[in-house]
Amino acid sequence: MESIEAALHAPFPPSRQNAEPLGETLVERDQFVTWLRAVAPYIHAFRGKTFVVGVGGEMIAAGMLEALVQDLSLLNAIGMRIVVVHGSRPQVVEQLRLRGVEDHYVRGLRVTDAIALECAKEAAGEIRLDIEAAFSQGLPNTPMAHSTVRVISGNFVTARPVGIVDGVDHLHTGVARKIDAQSIRFALQSGAIVLVSPLGFSPTGEAFNLGMEDVAAATAIAIDADKLVFVTEVPGVPGADDQVLGEVSEADATRILAAGELDCDTECYLRQALRACEGGVARAHIIPFQINGSVLLELFRHDGVGTMVVEETLEALREATIDDLGGILAIIRPLEEDGTLVPREHTQLEREIESFSVIEHDGVIFGCASLRVLAPEQTGEMYCLAVSGGAQTQGDGERLLRHIEQRARAAGLTRLYVLTTRTMHWFLKRGFRQGTPDDLPASRRDSYDWRRRSQVLIKVL
Ligand SMILES: CC(C)(COP(=O)(O)OP(=O)(O)OC[C@H]1O[C@@H](n2cnc3c(N)ncnc32)[C@H](O)[C@@H]1OP(=O)(O)O)[C@@H](O)C(=O)NCCC(=O)NCCS
Repeated sequence: MESIEAALHAPFPPSRQNAEPLGETLVERDQFVTWLRAVAPYIHAFRGKTFVVGVGGEMIAAGMLEALVQDLSLLNAIGMRIVVVHGSRPQVVEQLRLRGVEDHYVRGLRVTDAIALECAKEAAGEIRLDIEAAFSQGLPNTPMAHSTVRVISGNFVTARPVGIVDGVDHLHTGVARKIDAQSIRFALQSGAIVLVSPLGFSPTGEAFNLGMEDVAAATAIAIDADKLVFVTEVPGVPGADDQVLGEVSEADATRILAAGELDCDTECYLRQALRACEGGVARAHIIPFQINGSVLLELFRHDGVGTMVVEETLEALREATIDDLGGILAIIRPLEEDGTLVPREHTQLEREIESFSVIEHDGVIFGCASLRVLAPEQTGEMYCLAVSGGAQTQGDGERLLRHIEQRARAAGLTRLYVLTTRTMHWFLKRGFRQGTPDDLPASRRDSYDWRRRSQVLIKVL
């Protein structure tokens, strides 16, 4: 195999030595460079961070393992510390089928008898070998070329039996009791990817069959991971209109679970994602494996592809009431005076108060944004996005933007417009594209202020 040094010093193939690109346009070259640069901030932000990736056995059964391994190797190469926890549900079912044994569930939880435990061990062993093999690839002309990923697995999980539930003994079905965080951290520090199977052992040496979701959440909490990502057979958590919710807070997640309307799999992922956030993991993602590169899309793009559960902070993001008017004015008046925001009459703000969302901390408002529906075009305009001086650059501007986008989607709007004179780049970085006043819907174009000459930014929702 070609060494890295050889690859670095090899001459470019003849076509690459030409100043004129062959088979690609200059625009495509530019797009590539722009794209790579756009990813740079995420690479800086994620380097040295710890991610736990929970991979359902369904993804492996669907033949998507190699693509995921390539993406995880890339993340590992750019300095992220990765723990992979794999599932094995369909593989255990298949093993049982081959032995002509019925699968036995009580309230969605498998009862693992001696035969089922054998099947779980066999399935886990096979999957572990498949994953190790996939990480060991290094063929030239593949994303794995020059990768030297070490995979470390071990007896990291101590388990206890689920025991007797509703009169049924679940035998060798267990739950994670303790995770050997120190050994996992040690392995991660050495640059290896840690692989954890959904099996645990009791101090008496007994093996237990565990849920991947349980082990992944317990591991993420134990090692104080920055993120937990479930790569799953479900698209994410559906909202009222059946569209996948991009972001839910812990409080939202608790409400959704209490409503009891989710299908069994989504409920299980959301419950464990919430548990992880409550245990101190900043973000837990539920993303579909069916989308090619879903892990990369979720991590490196502002919009992502699934649902992200965010750790609750002391701040509350909520819809405004008339009592918040004073707090909103305190934030926006200085910005109106220096020309950043368009001056608005007190009475106008009072009339429009219900279109505002605010961020409050200990009774003080320190961020706001408003959504105006531009009927009849079924589009919306966000205005008055502002975070008070001392509280800026902590992600609250972005939280408000995401919230307004969610409100707009929930209202069935298809586009979001923003008019700004000084904050264009902030919006461009967050998925907006630059337009012109002509792109505004007719109902808004007429009131465009040509003296102010604000930039028009557009986001398709
Ligand atoms: C734009 C604004 C809402 C962002 O709020 P925030 O809570 O600081 O935003 P976030 O923490 O999510 O983002 C901070 C990042 O945006 C950058 N940023 C802030 N203002 C920016 C601007 N005008 N242009 C480009 N980037 C900007 C910060 O430097 C920071 O970058 P970093 O993450 O690389 O450090 C806030 O700066 C503000 O209130 N601006 C004045 C009002 C305004 O212009 N509103 C928009 C028109 S409606």
